[in-house]
Amino acid sequence: MRRLGLLLLAAGVGLAFGPARAELVLRPTRPAPTDLEVSGPFPGGRTNGFLTRDQLLALPPTLATNAMDTAVKSRAVYRGIPLLQLRSLLGLDGRADTLFAVCSDGYAKAFEADYLSAFQSLLILEINGTGPETWGRSKLTGLEMAPYYINAADFAPRPDQNVLGLPEDLHFPYGVVRIEFRTAASTVDRLRLPGTASASAKQGAVIAVRDCLACHGHADFGGTMSGRPWLLLKTWSSNTNFFRRYVVKPKSIQPASSMPGFTHYEAPVLDALQAYFRELKIGELRR
Ligand code: HEC
Repeated sequence: MRRLGLLLLAAGVGLAFGPARAELVLRPTRPAPTDLEVSGPFPGGRTNGFLTRDQLLALPPTLATNAMDTAVKSRAVYRGIPLLQLRSLLGLDGRADTLFAVCSDGYAKAFEADYLSAFQSLLILEINGTGPETWGRSKLTGLEMAPYYINAADFAPRPDQNVLGLPEDLHFPYGVVRIEFRTAASTVDRLRLPGTASASAKQGAVIAVRDCLACHGHADFGGTMSGRPWLLLKTWSSNTNFFRRYVVKPKSIQPASSMPGFTHYEAPVLDALQAYFRELKIGELRR
């Protein structure tokens, strides 16, 4: 994907009403299904609320062109708000280094600090000039794209993020209904292993957080769509044959499984994943 750069336009509305921050007053309830829920340690003590689509449209827009959008399967011009800008406008800088984009089906993708600063992911309000009512379904999965979509126009996997030959993945959740502003310490870091763990298990931890957490959450973070939490994966990891076959080709074990198979995983990746879940000690899981 070619880097086309971001074009910042100041919206007339933003200028007329002064600092955008004053406009981001959270509503206590969801006035419409097209509104966005946000949660986090907001200044003033609130921990969740709603932003209307009109509030988001009134912010100075960022425009970015993606030469080939993975879900739309064509060139796409985005109009949106950078997630980092949204965090600032909500007064959460320094309070939330990690965020989760939660979708209507319980899928919840983690955006870690380094990813956020590398790729300028946008909360997308319009694609090619039109709103969510015209977006339809993802050409990749057939799932509804509305009400919010997050993507980055200038993504290219960073070579230093390769693990066992697997490049880092583009984060492009759609059907997003909530953004949770969290910290790494209270979420993903709790799933990492201590320094004494094997090298393979540590590589497995990176892959598991990247590829499994969005559907298999732990405690109050990560996805709920599988209905199978993180520690159940640990249980299954001791059954080598089941675990490896399930991860690569779920339907070969459960014909009705709705989990996508990781057919590109080679044996060393499966070894690392298994090592990770085996070395993860429930008692030591950081709180
Ligand atoms: C897009 C969502 C999604 C992702 C990503 C995902 N899974 Fe799943 N997984 C599911 C769903 C849904 C099920 C339940 C299967 C069903 O009955 O439909 C499941 C079930 C499983 C099971 C069987 C558990 C049981 O009790 O039946 C294992 C093992 C598993 N997943 C491992 C993994 C691992 C390891 C990863 C990461 C490499 C992963 N999954 C990534 C959605 C996902």
